[in-house]
Amino acid sequence: MKVVLENLTKKFPNRSRRREDVVAVDRFNFTVPDGELVGLLGPSGCGKSTTLNLLCGLLTPSEGRIYFGDEDVTDLPAENRGVGMVFQNYALYPHLTVRQNIMFPLGNLKGKEKLSKAEMNEKAEAAAKLVQIENLMDRKPGELSGGQQQRVAIARALVKMPRILLLDEPLSNLDARLRLQTRDHRVKVVGDCVCRYLCGAKACNDGNNQHPSELKNAVFNAGGTCDV
Ligand SMILES: Nc1ncnc2c1ncn2[C@@H]1O[C@H](COP(=O)(O)OP(=O)(O)OP(=O)(O)O)[C@@H](O)[C@H]1O
Ligand SMILES: [Mg+2]
Repeated sequence: MKVVLENLTKKFPNRSRRREDVVAVDRFNFTVPDGELVGLLGPSGCGKSTTLNLLCGLLTPSEGRIYFGDEDVTDLPAENRGVGMVFQNYALYPHLTVRQNIMFPLGNLKGKEKLSKAEMNEKAEAAAKLVQIENLMDRKPGELSGGQQQRVAIARALVKMPRILLLDEPLSNLDARLRLQTRDHRVKVVGDCVCRYLCGAKACNDGNNQHPSELKNAVFNAGGTCDV
């Protein structure tokens, strides 16, 4: 299943009335081919996070369309898109344990998809095992290192076995050694599950951010053009 962004544009209203809108993403045209791992590169503020938020359905485009395969998902609510997202700041719930954080997306399933507590637990443990945090399940996020928090966020994004996995600057809070370990691990995670895509956003000015060979880079300019 390929992912197609067609003239994708996001404008935010400027708080000061006399100023023009902020154009965060400007007529971005891009295709992620079936099964490919792609990184979006570009300077701070060029629209990487906004693009991922549009892809997962948290934001609605001002113009343009998003297709997953042949399906136009532009107007599909986030919960029906089958996208797992790891946010730039991880966005873990501080008052919930690791287990409760990972199980959280499963609690929203309705109708035939609804799971029992035991099934939710089983899926949460399988996701935790993928990223090797199964021994941390009863801790709260504040009792974890940055890298461990990152893995909780990845497990939470994987627990519903998404069609597409989006990682926003997933390695930025790790030191160089951990980053190398996690980078290799990230590819393994994707290889181990049914996720077909990984769309990471990274700042391009970071010398340590070398990419695994599986990861193609899309260089992203503010004007919406893109070189792969
Ligand atoms: N809710 C918002 N309201 C107004 N402007 C916004 C909003 N969200 C983002 N922006 C602006 O849109 C532009 C793109 O932001 P975005 O977060 O997508 O950048 P980024 O490429 O992810 O940057 P970084 O590498 O620093 O994470 C920035 O100029 C930002 O200030
Ligand atoms: Mg960002």
